[in-house]
Amino acid sequence: MSTGDRDPTVYLDHAATTPMRAEAVAAMLPFLAGSFGNPSGSHRIARTARRALDDARETLAVLLGAHPGDVVFTSGGTEADNLAVFGIATGSGTALCSAVEHPAVLQACLAVGGSVVRVDRRGVVDLDMLVDQLDEKVRIVSVMLVNNETGVRQPLETVVALVRDRAPRALVHTDAVQAFSWLDVAAMTAGADLVSVSAHKFGGPKGVGVLVARDRATPLRPMLRGGPQERERRAGTQNVAGVVAMAAAAEANVRDREEASRRVLKLSTRLVEGILGAVPQVHEAVAPGLRIDAICNLGIEGVEGEELLMVLDELGVCASAGSACASGAIEPSHVLLAMGRSTEEAKHHVRLSLGHGTTQADIDSAVPAFAEAVERLRS
Ligand SMILES: Cc1ncc(COP(=O)(O)O)c(C=O)c1O
Repeated sequence: MSTGDRDPTVYLDHAATTPMRAEAVAAMLPFLAGSFGNPSGSHRIARTARRALDDARETLAVLLGAHPGDVVFTSGGTEADNLAVFGIATGSGTALCSAVEHPAVLQACLAVGGSVVRVDRRGVVDLDMLVDQLDEKVRIVSVMLVNNETGVRQPLETVVALVRDRAPRALVHTDAVQAFSWLDVAAMTAGADLVSVSAHKFGGPKGVGVLVARDRATPLRPMLRGGPQERERRAGTQNVAGVVAMAAAAEANVRDREEASRRVLKLSTRLVEGILGAVPQVHEAVAPGLRIDAICNLGIEGVEGEELLMVLDELGVCASAGSACASGAIEPSHVLLAMGRSTEEAKHHVRLSLGHGTTQADIDSAVPAFAEAVERLRS
């Protein structure tokens, strides 16, 4: 996707955030101006907002394979992940998550005294170690559907089966934030008790998301206390405009998903093959069969990822390292470290992520730009 006719920018950072879909912008606008009511009120303006919220809840419930009452609106993926962990874990030893979770799960899990389950060199959760760590005490196990840095898919169905067998009191949470654009999340998460999604990763606005909390996840202890909104699971006036836009984005996304996935498979193959063909000593962090097509993580020998990203930016290509740098210091990716890469190796990776608007022209500009950037940094 170029950001404008005369702007040659190539955006390959869709895993960080996506441009809003036209349907989502159109759905949102009336609720920013005329229909501004508080959905908890009882008069006509409030009722209009309430109806829109209820309709969006129903739409999202269907698309997520849930009941409307299971849908808890949140301020995004981070809050949904935090709510799942803090809302269920009851103290030390009661939470488990994989070592490659997004910090929104990992840090929450560590904060409640939970434990981390190792992944193998491919980035897939080590099921033997999971089995070893499952016991009567565990209340929540969180394993993501798709990793945000590598695109690696986790065997969620097997995780659910193991948890039901070995830790009957535990619930399963899955962070489906990176999955919703590309996979049938409703079908794939049917066995999970708690599921997180975030609107800005699939063409909706930032600052709004959903935690699906099915019956088994009752009671979910709220993190935010106050009014009785969201059936007392999340206090605070709902972001009506954001929720309505999220539902519109989700509908458009599911409608286009198959076609977009086919296109992105071709484009990501062209991108990776193009780069590997043009630039020596570049490798993929994970094999294509293990990951979603939209996220490509490349290791480049002799070139630091952060430097490469700066030169790519100069050349008009927006990409990222896949993990945020905290407090100005560039931390090596905890995901790559968990996959057995050394600190030094982990510094040499960048993530290129495609979206539904990515075009062949984008890819055909990105490949030579990548080759030029690497050559500049190596010479
Ligand atoms: C896998 C995953 N989980 C959670 C989040 C957090 O979502 P949000 O930005 O909506 O807080 C992200 C965003 O990068 C993510 O990629």
